[in-house]
Amino acid sequence: MTELYNSYRKDIYTEPSGVDKDTLKNLGPLRPMAGIWRGSKGLDVNPKREGPETQAFVERLELQPIDPQTNGPQLLYGLRYHQHIVKPGEIETYHDQIGYWLWEPATGTIIQTLTIPRGQTAMAVGTAAPDAKEFELVATRGLTTYGICSNPFLEQAFRTDEYRIKITINDDGTWAYDETTTLMIKGEMPFAHTDKDTLIKIGEPTPNGVARPHEAS
Ligand code: HEM
Repeated sequence: MTELYNSYRKDIYTEPSGVDKDTLKNLGPLRPMAGIWRGSKGLDVNPKREGPETQAFVERLELQPIDPQTNGPQLLYGLRYHQHIVKPGEIETYHDQIGYWLWEPATGTIIQTLTIPRGQTAMAVGTAAPDAKEFELVATRGLTTYGICSNPFLEQAFRTDEYRIKITINDDGTWAYDETTTLMIKGEMPFAHTDKDTLIKIGEPTPNGVARPHEAS
């Protein structure tokens, strides 16, 4: 990987040629996650003054392919996602999250970006084989690459030191996540804010724009 990035350094502008424009065919380990999903077995453990609160949740998670993205010589394929979570039987948002899942075929790198409406954003990284059925990504506070950035209130009251997510692709077409956000709550011990769910497909992904030439204007 270092060798590849060294070769990138010599010429940071030239984009790769002959790029396959069909993102769904080039998502590596992320391919089984593309589509529209529903989860009804969600479980959240979050911090409350009285101690950890455990809450069941239901979610809708949509991951749609984006056109291939280049940064000079670097080529990324990806999914844009929106996760919306409510408590069972309720309408009010319990958790909302947007971002991208990205795959760099040249290095086997997976990136997840996430933004939540608490005024917080993070970027996690991991590596995997293109056909991996399990992979883990981590974001670490204090890093300028693959870090965590919070608004000043969160930074002082609920400092987020680490975010870690493990994905498992199941043989029956479902997939699951298990994530731990480590919070340093002011005046307390580190708190493991955990979330997990299993996703069942309710809709197929829509091919990315340039993979649908008949629709190009
Ligand atoms: C399925 C995913 C998640 C759910 C359902 C969820 C839900 C919650 C809930 C219910 C609280 C307590 C809120 C309150 O008492 O006001 C909370 C707190 C918090 N969450 Fe999450 N969360 C999720 C993922 C994340 C992620 C990925 C991050 C950051 C990387 C994060 C960062 C925080 C922080 C910093 C707090 C402390 C703020 C507070 O308690 O007011 N959460 N979360």
